[in-house]
Amino acid sequence: MKKDQSWVLPSLKDAQKRTKNTSEIKHNEFTLTEEEKTLGNGYTYHVRTYGCQANERDSETMAGILEAMGFTAQEDILKADVVILNTCAIRQNAEDRVIGEIGNLKHQKKKNPNFILAVCGCMAQEEEVVDEILQKHRQVDIIFGTHNIHHLPVLLHQCMQQNKRIVEVLSKEGEVIENLPVSRFGAHKAWVNIMYGCDKFCTYCIVPYTRGKERSRTMEDVLKEVQILKEQGYKEVTLLGQNVNAYGKDLGLEGGFATLLKAVAQIGIPRIRFSTSHPWDFSDAMIETIAEYPNIMPAIHLPVQSGNSEILKLMGRRYTIEEYKTLYDKIKKAIPECTVTTDIIVGFPNETEEQFLQTLEIAEYCKYDNAFTFVYSPRKGTPAARMVDNVPAEEKDQRLARLNEVIHKYARINNEKFENAILEVLCDGPSKRNSEIMSGYSKENKLVNFKALPNTKEGDIVKVKITCVKSFSLDGEEIA
Ligand code: 5AD
Ligand code: SF4
Repeated sequence: MKKDQSWVLPSLKDAQKRTKNTSEIKHNEFTLTEEEKTLGNGYTYHVRTYGCQANERDSETMAGILEAMGFTAQEDILKADVVILNTCAIRQNAEDRVIGEIGNLKHQKKKNPNFILAVCGCMAQEEEVVDEILQKHRQVDIIFGTHNIHHLPVLLHQCMQQNKRIVEVLSKEGEVIENLPVSRFGAHKAWVNIMYGCDKFCTYCIVPYTRGKERSRTMEDVLKEVQILKEQGYKEVTLLGQNVNAYGKDLGLEGGFATLLKAVAQIGIPRIRFSTSHPWDFSDAMIETIAEYPNIMPAIHLPVQSGNSEILKLMGRRYTIEEYKTLYDKIKKAIPECTVTTDIIVGFPNETEEQFLQTLEIAEYCKYDNAFTFVYSPRKGTPAARMVDNVPAEEKDQRLARLNEVIHKYARINNEKFENAILEVLCDGPSKRNSEIMSGYSKENKLVNFKALPNTKEGDIVKVKITCVKSFSLDGEEIA
């Protein structure tokens, strides 16, 4: 295949490099030409999101950009003129799902000559994936990465007008662009980016390569966004970053994330959550702040990854299991009602049965409210992928099943504490299974399905008496 000279292809090697320069923050960078403002008139779009909350938030930006260009949303992916797959590269199965979806959309152009398929997000940052798409999936018209979402209008314009394949994936992060449009998917819960990228380089993880170096937004910009959300009637914000605890380091902000968290709490929006915390720089000031402000929700996601210190060292996690336990104890002591959830990987290269048993031990020790558990998936370009691995796949699957048993046991035991309790629930609307039942989340982040009072609607914060406890949800009745 002849390569077009205008292609900008990714390089994981370049993406690994870190410079000391702080990223510039731009407030007026995004503009649309008069032509771009009407390019989408009469056309529809569908953005499908895979993976984490950062991707969800990026998809909201893309939706905002597309709507500013005149496109309208189409819920049915098979009816949309422009489809964007916002992809995740964290594990092989996430990538396989995207490749499957690209396959499903193969014949769309025959049905709709205007059809455009774009692939973006973390997979687009990987050179092998881009190569594979270019060679085998001719139905993909545009490939762009995580660093140039603001360029979407130009890419679409070129594709629509010149009818050619466009690849523009930057390996290095650029500036932080503040004035991007957004079309939020939720009416009462909002994602708020506080920082981008990750500098931790855990040895198994592709994220530091696909999302670039850590760059914080300024406090002023974050606070302004939360203030506006409050004025718009939003009830909950989730502050987002790959590792929120590193917030402000690049800005030299004293007190780091704790300082921001406090200032966000003082705005007085009813509920604040944050995700994700790395145990390494979880400060005492953060714990004190969460304990002090009732609108910071008592629910912490604290990925442990493994219960064995040697494996943690090989993973590049920067803490021992004893240090993790100390942190866990400190959190539970300061905020007894705080629920704790985690991420765990089993079957890291050469993990022994004894080492795995220590992972079961940490799950027993922390009695997690819930956990995302994974079998290790080698990611090309990361240090762990170069380690020779002697653990058979079936063994890894069995370890996952054994771990899940412990996780499920404590999920249920923890939920039993809420039998007959009265919880404050932010109503998300009718439950997926039964329209007479509403569902929502408690402060502790428990999913609650409840019989609502007549006038209760989405976005209300209501009191629910818990009548029945399940492993991963609670049932109840709203009380006046
Ligand atoms: N294999 C399996 N799980 C992974 N995670 C990150 N990289 C990998 C990988 N290569 C998990 C970690 C992380 C979560 C978001 O995904 O547990 O916390
Ligand atoms: Fe990946 Fe580790 Fe960064 Fe999380 S902290 S995104 S696991 S490198």
